[in-house]
Amino acid sequence: MEFEGKSVIVTGGAQGIGQAIALRFASAGARISILDVDVSNASFPGFEDSICLFSGDVANSLDVERFVSDVAKRTGRIDILVNNAGIIRDNVIWRMSEDEFDSVLRVNLKGPWLLSKQVIPIMKGQDYGRIVNIVSRAWLGNFGQSNYSSSKGGLVSLTRVLALELARFNITVNAVAPGLIDTPMTRSLSPETFDKLIAAQPGKRAGKPEDIAHAVAFFASQEAGFISGQVLHVDGGKSIGSTVF
Ligand SMILES: NC(=O)c1ccc[n+]([C@@H]2O[C@H](COP(=O)([O-])OP(=O)(O)OC[C@H]3O[C@@H](n4cnc5c(N)ncnc54)[C@H](O)[C@@H]3O)[C@@H](O)[C@H]2O)c1
Repeated sequence: MEFEGKSVIVTGGAQGIGQAIALRFASAGARISILDVDVSNASFPGFEDSICLFSGDVANSLDVERFVSDVAKRTGRIDILVNNAGIIRDNVIWRMSEDEFDSVLRVNLKGPWLLSKQVIPIMKGQDYGRIVNIVSRAWLGNFGQSNYSSSKGGLVSLTRVLALELARFNITVNAVAPGLIDTPMTRSLSPETFDKLIAAQPGKRAGKPEDIAHAVAFFASQEAGFISGQVLHVDGGKSIGSTVF
């Protein structure tokens, strides 16, 4: 898969899965623009010329507007948008605060909607575009994640609607649903919780950020132009069913 000269946006690309996605595209010749709330520890040795970092919040419409217009001016076009930024605030519903619900929906669902809304006019003008949303296996439902699962389920629905609305402009919209991936997000869980999650995996291991980056590159490729509105689970088989017997 070749991405020579393509202009790619990756949200939440300062670490974890987003960082692997940025590196995947940069290694294939693309120019990457990252929007992340915290760029203080981000570094891309060897790719300083092709990866640009912007500080901002995906759920703040002013930040998104400024970012997208800056990218369009700098690179002249936007070929690929990867909505990757996401947060967790886990709790059972009887202990979850309204703020924990709102903040997750804001970043995980409103963010991709705002980014898409700003980028789509540019993609329509080019008669070309690829949007890839990072959802989660949790969109199927997870105990303690009424906020997170709802946000990712909503993002699956957004993916399907935009696939319909944008097909006539040669823009595809797809989603990648990671299972347990070893990133700063999952390492922020207690070691006991992380171990329990590993034990529940069919292969008894977490995936790597690069596993997700390759799936994103597939949807974003020239070759995937007739695939739209789909969800690809990249989870070592976890979405198939229970591993307990
Ligand atoms: N790690 C997993 O096991 C896993 C599983 C399923 C889905 N996902 C999804 O993959 C995506 C990346 O997850 P990760 O594990 O790399 O997480 P991470 O916490 O390691 O990285 C997320 C990045 O997003 C940025 N971010 C957070 N809020 C933001 C905002 N409002 N605006 C801009 N940037 C913001 C963070 O600063 C960080 O750099 C998320 O959407 C997450 O829900 C992760």
